[in-house]
Formats: sequence, C-alpha cells, structure tokens
Amino acid sequence: MEKVSVKTPGRSYDIIIGRGILDEAGNLSLKSISSGKALIITDSTVDGLYSGKLADSLQASGFSVEKYVIPAGESSKNTENLLDIVNFLAENNFTRSDTVFALGGGVVGDIAGFAASVYLRGINFVQIPTTLLAAVDSSVGGKTAVNLPSGKNLMGAFYQPNMVICDYSVFDTLSEEIFRDGCAEVIKYAMIFDSDFLERLKLPIKNNIEEVIKRCVSIKSHIVEMDEKDNAERQLLNFGHTFGHAIEKCSGYSISHGKAVAIGMAMITRASVKKEFCTPECLSALMELLNAFELPCSTEFSVDELYKVLLSDKKRKGDKINLVVPEKAGRCVLKKFPVADVRELLEAGM
Ligand SMILES: NC(=O)c1ccc[n+]([C@@H]2O[C@H](COP(=O)([O-])OP(=O)(O)OC[C@H]3O[C@@H](n4cnc5c(N)ncnc54)[C@H](O)[C@@H]3O)[C@@H](O)[C@H]2O)c1
Ligand SMILES: [Zn+2]
Repeated sequence: MEKVSVKTPGRSYDIIIGRGILDEAGNLSLKSISSGKALIITDSTVDGLYSGKLADSLQASGFSVEKYVIPAGESSKNTENLLDIVNFLAENNFTRSDTVFALGGGVVGDIAGFAASVYLRGINFVQIPTTLLAAVDSSVGGKTAVNLPSGKNLMGAFYQPNMVICDYSVFDTLSEEIFRDGCAEVIKYAMIFDSDFLERLKLPIKNNIEEVIKRCVSIKSHIVEMDEKDNAERQLLNFGHTFGHAIEKCSGYSISHGKAVAIGMAMITRASVKKEFCTPECLSALMELLNAFELPCSTEFSVDELYKVLLSDKKRKGDKINLVVPEKAGRCVLKKFPVADVRELLEAGM
C-alpha cells in the first residue's frame, strides 16, 4: 500500500493506493472521518460490480449505509441529478459529520463531490476512483462540477476530499477503451513534468500500475498545492486540453476525453515544433507513447470547425488565450497567445 499526502490551504488529506483495499475502505476512512451515516454515490455499471463490497466494509466499521445510483455516462452529470442527491441527503437527515462516498469514474466523483460541497455548505467526502482517469486525475485536486446545457463543468466548486482510496484491482473490469483514456492523462503528466517517468512509460503500464498512479497523483498534488484555484501553475495540467476540448465539443462528445486529449497533445506539440518552441525529438517522444498506447493523434475536424469552438473556450481571457506548450519532453510552459494567432497554431498542428 502506498500513501501520498496532499496539503492545500483548505484541507490536508491522504491518497491511499493499493490492490484489494476496497475491502478495507471502512477502516481506512476512519483515519480521517468518524463513522456515522454514509451515502455511497455510484453509477449503474459500477453499482453491480463494487458497491456491495464497499457497503459491507463501511457497515463492518460502524457506518449506516445508504446508496444513490445514477445511470452510467456523462449525461448523468447534470443539475437534476445534483438536486436529487442533495434532496436525498436532506430527506435522510445527513448532518455535517456524515459522509458522501463517491464510488466510480470522473462522472460520479465530480457530481458527488459537488453535492457534498453544497449540502449544508459542505459535508465529509471520500473519493473512491474506479477508472484509471479518475485515479490519476479527477479524484485528486478538488475540482467538482456538473454540466449545464451550454457547456461542460460550467457549475461547480473547489472542494477537496477528506481522503482518496484507490484500489486498482477494480481496473480488472475496465474495458481497454476506457483504460486507454486514463493512459492519455498519464502521458500528459510525464510530458509536463517528468522526463524519467516518460522513459518508464515505455514499460508495460499494467505491470507497474501502483508506481504509475503514485507518480501521477504526486505530480498533481504538488501542482495543486502551489495553485489550488487554477490561476497559474495548475493550468499546466491543461496540456493538450484546449485543442482536446474543442475536438470533444465538435464531436458532440462522441470522442472521449482521453482520446481528445491525446489528439490535442499531438497537435500542440506538432505546432510547437513548427514554431520552434520545442525540438522534433520532443514530438517523437510523445508520438512513440501515443502509438504504444494505441491512442489517436489526428482529427478529421477542420481548422475552421475547431477555431469556432475555441473562440468560446471558458479559459479564454479577453482577446488572449493561455496555451500549454512543450519546451522539451518532460517540461511544458504556459504561453499567452492572441486569440487570432491560435488559428495559425491549429493549422500548424494538423
Ligand atoms: N475533477 C477533475 O479534476 C476532472 C479531471 C478530469 C476529468 N474529469 C471528469 O471526469 C469525467 C470522465 O471520467 P471517466 O473517464 O472516469 O468517465 P466515467 O465516470 O463516465 O466512467 C467511464 C465508464 O466506465 C465505467 N466504469 C467505471 N469504473 C469501472 C470499473 N471499475 N469497471 C467497469 N466499468 C467501470 C462507468 O460506468 C462508465 O460507463 C468527465 O466528466 C470529466 O469532465 C474531472
Ligand atoms: Zn483531462
């Protein structure tokens, strides 16, 4: 079992990583919260696989357990489900010393965390990620949200969990497709922060999964500790994401987040080579990994289609947009561009 500690101004918490530790989730969580009422929030797929195990462990540690299940999929991350969860907590008399357990991927973690942050202005919250993407990314750092009809993640809060319990044995039931989405985020961490890690990713990731998760969450917690509210360094975690979000949106979200980010990283790196922000070796290192993980690296959408969506990007500040560009393999920097120049970068990245 491995532990990574995160210290933000609002809250310090541990990320516990191990194989088979879902059975110990009750006792592990008692290190940061007291037993009381527990609401397991999960989705319709994960429910049948793992919520029984979690409920048993929590009950054995003295929790009284309720469960709330949302349909699997991004469309469940909506305001109707959010309000329904908050009403469920109220009707079942949850107090501030009771706890929401998010058991699932990023969708469950994001909506459950937001519900925990607004109910009674904040009750206890434990993240139990069940996808690789949630384990290495969304369960850590305290971004919680739901989608609005006008866009993704437009309503949310920064709300750090009391603990993250990551049992990677649950990845055994993940499809290759969904596992690969998480691999794109793993490559992202290595590209922005760690050239040695980039080298180690050439080894089969599944044989090294504990080390991989630990390295990713260590990088993320280090960045979140410097900039919890996403005003500066945290934006580095958006490497590949600005172009990636445009691709996701153009596809009506039929291209998954991980695949879109993979394409976005390839595009901004190709553009960076052409603009001489980085060397061709940096692009080769990225492409070698994207190919090894069978992730895509180009898009069918046109520059015009992508540019139109980019103009409505929520990270745009007036007529400037911050992009994360690689300087070399294992190091990225934030660069501010006039929005008009981004069209040229898109062209260079195709
Ligand atoms: N908060 C953040 O910092 C942050 C960061 C990145 C992404 N996100 C959000 O995360 C979401 C994407 O997360 P995701 O990729 O985990 O998607 P997801 O939660 O939709 O999970 C993907 C699919 O895998 C299934 N699944 C989950 N665990 C399983 C398991 N162990 N075995 C079998 N099936 C399983 C789910 O039922 C779902 O159908 C997006 O909404 C995105 O906006 C948030
Ligand atoms: Zn991402």
